Amino acid sequence: MSNKRHLRILSGIQPSGRLHLGNYFGMMSRMIRYQQESELFCFIANYHALTGLPDRTTLKQNTFNAACDFLALGMDPDRSTFWIQSDVPQVTELTWILASMTSVGLMDRSTSYKDKITQGFKTNMGLFSYPILMASDILCFDSRIVPVGKDQKQHLEITRDIANRFNYTYGETLVIPKPDIEKTTQLLPGIDGQKMSKSYNNIIPIFEDEKVIRKQVMSIVTDNTPIDKPKNKDTPLFSLFSLFLDESEQKDLEQRYDGSGLRYGDIKMELFEKIMNYFSPFRAKRDQYFSNKKQVIDILQFGAEKANKVADSVLDRVRSATGIGKY
Ligand code: TRP
Repeated sequence: MSNKRHLRILSGIQPSGRLHLGNYFGMMSRMIRYQQESELFCFIANYHALTGLPDRTTLKQNTFNAACDFLALGMDPDRSTFWIQSDVPQVTELTWILASMTSVGLMDRSTSYKDKITQGFKTNMGLFSYPILMASDILCFDSRIVPVGKDQKQHLEITRDIANRFNYTYGETLVIPKPDIEKTTQLLPGIDGQKMSKSYNNIIPIFEDEKVIRKQVMSIVTDNTPIDKPKNKDTPLFSLFSLFLDESEQKDLEQRYDGSGLRYGDIKMELFEKIMNYFSPFRAKRDQYFSNKKQVIDILQFGAEKANKVADSVLDRVRSATGIGKY
């Protein structure tokens, strides 16, 4: 085992029900690659999803689907630790303990809460405390590196603040994690040019019906530069296409953009085909998992057992540092 295998990397994803290119290129593909050289911890954040108050059936289905998605995309449950957040309920205990170290001012500065309220979410304390639960997810497993999309950067800063506050108060107990935000995919645009996000209704889904994917790709915003003029490369269509290209294909695309005669409609069709080809083996694997529910449930249980052991040992340290338990 190399040293890097001891570098514990952890990340989670909310089960939103519609996996999209932003999820995949922002975090999932990196996680899957990291499995080769690091110790990967990865979970489906269903407690977090609860803050949006989905109905019971939707939450259950989305959670299970997200697990199938991740497994199909290459999560290796033997090599890594993969589980559903609520199967390790120790994180909720740690959340409470960490909440006591968290100033209200720190939470007030969280932009994600304000964003959600602006989007029309009803206020609730779960939504307000979302960053504390996320800090707990991270700290509960002694994670060192946390790969996330750029939108989660502030949550990582909050996690570090809380952990430092804990260690300052009770002595060195928690591992201070570092974010890992990939530069090239810092801002994956949606079809309207804003950040790709389910709540903006601008996603390109990965596993949905071909027709839905085609429709979304064909709706990517473009400008009205005449056909015979060079095209602007700082645009959503160009960025999205670039995700699927190797170096020489990328040069080719640049030349086509710089020259004349390029039709956006052609590029969109090519992009659509790239997407379908790229994900087609994963789609087949996903279908297999769907038709074998028992296998998925066993995998998740196995992951939860492994995760439980680590969480228990961290909570032992936290309880004895704080004077909770054993009196
Ligand atoms: N908040 C993250 C998101 O929406 C999901 C998440 C929950 C997470 N807990 C985490 C990510 C812990 C990294 C580590 O993308």
